Amino acid sequence: MRRTDAIAVPVDSEAGRRPWLARRVLLGVTGGVAAYKSVQVARDLTLLGAEVDVVLSAAARRFVTPLSFEAVTGRRALTELFSAEGAARHLRLGSDADAVCVAPATADFLGRMAAGRADDLLTTSLLAVRAPILLFPAMNTLMLEHPRVATNLEKLRGTSGVEICGPGVGRLAAGEVEGAGRMLEPDEITALVGRALGSARLGALASRKVLVTAGPTREPVDTVRYLGNRSSGRMGYALAESAWLRGADVVLVTGPSELSVPDGIAVRRCETAREMRDRVVEIAPDRDLCIFAAAVADLRPRQTAERKLKRRDLPEEVFLELAPNPDVALAAVQAMGNEGFSVGFALESENMLENARAKLVGGRFDMVVANPAGDPDAGFGATTNRVTVLRPGREPEKLPLMEKTRVADAILDRIEPALERR
Ligand code: CTP
Repeated sequence: MRRTDAIAVPVDSEAGRRPWLARRVLLGVTGGVAAYKSVQVARDLTLLGAEVDVVLSAAARRFVTPLSFEAVTGRRALTELFSAEGAARHLRLGSDADAVCVAPATADFLGRMAAGRADDLLTTSLLAVRAPILLFPAMNTLMLEHPRVATNLEKLRGTSGVEICGPGVGRLAAGEVEGAGRMLEPDEITALVGRALGSARLGALASRKVLVTAGPTREPVDTVRYLGNRSSGRMGYALAESAWLRGADVVLVTGPSELSVPDGIAVRRCETAREMRDRVVEIAPDRDLCIFAAAVADLRPRQTAERKLKRRDLPEEVFLELAPNPDVALAAVQAMGNEGFSVGFALESENMLENARAKLVGGRFDMVVANPAGDPDAGFGATTNRVTVLRPGREPEKLPLMEKTRVADAILDRIEPALERR
């Protein structure tokens, strides 16, 4: 891209996380009402460091203006094939892209692309693309289910390098009507484009099978009460998303958590430690990497009342008999055999390094990530964490206080070389 194309730079290059710095994304926008959401996608990708070239179809311009995209990307948005700019650029737009995303992709656009047409700047540029192409259809359910649209989608799905993402089910443009055809949300689109960019980089995690445990477990006392802990699941969710962005096939086994992950991550929900153990034992055997970030309750009430215990029926003192819970990580590591790489967390309130080292030598883990308990900036509930990474035969490596998303990246950066050697 020539420097003269720059209009303004809306991003703060120092602040924030910019994992896709200098990666090129071609964002095609076609004429559906969901086009207004694509401005958000363009902005988010730009903030993550990508150079985003936007090409609008003629119909898209009836919904959003090129200026909206220029304001958030700092780059000229293009519309015309038959202009000096368009003619000179259409091949480079396609061939220079590291990932392509068309959102929304209308029925008309899908038909033209499936037919191999090159009748506007977007379809012409797409013929020069060799990078992954992600299409985000958006249309009314009746159109989506029409055999001609279904045939076009099938044809595109079978085209190498093309991925159809969504559409989801939800409220459609016409207000109250719910149905299939809703474009995926901007954060999901951004995550999917990021994954396409990440896997284009082909690090050691690309195509590897990964299991992450996350969140607390809840051990029932009766039908409404439980023993649990303050874990939010944030560290495990960040690890799952970061591994997925690097192209891994990720299963997230999670206790109750408010958080969400992109669609491409398989989520298995559970409540108790025993349910979590059963899930991971099923999944672990074919995994290359297991990361145990869950805060599993070590104890559970030996008995669970089958109805809500009434206060008036309770004696003056109540003794809850507790039983030990299974060690989820140990069960998973045994199920994995010697093949996979396992990473445990050590949440410690005292003698952190010594206790964490003990978890490393037990043979349960190939790497241990120690974090302090009771620090308001780190560990449970916080959005940041301060961790120390322990590996056999190496000095513990203390990382600075960072957002958990960045801690997740730092941990995976340290796992990748070890995976490469396997
Ligand atoms: N873990 C697990 N199942 C358990 C307990 C812990 O899978 N029942 C996993 C955690 O996910 C973590 C690691 O084991 O990755 C260590 O957890 P931690 O609570 O720090 O240590 P414990 O093994 O429970 O030992 P201690 O309570 O003595 O610190």
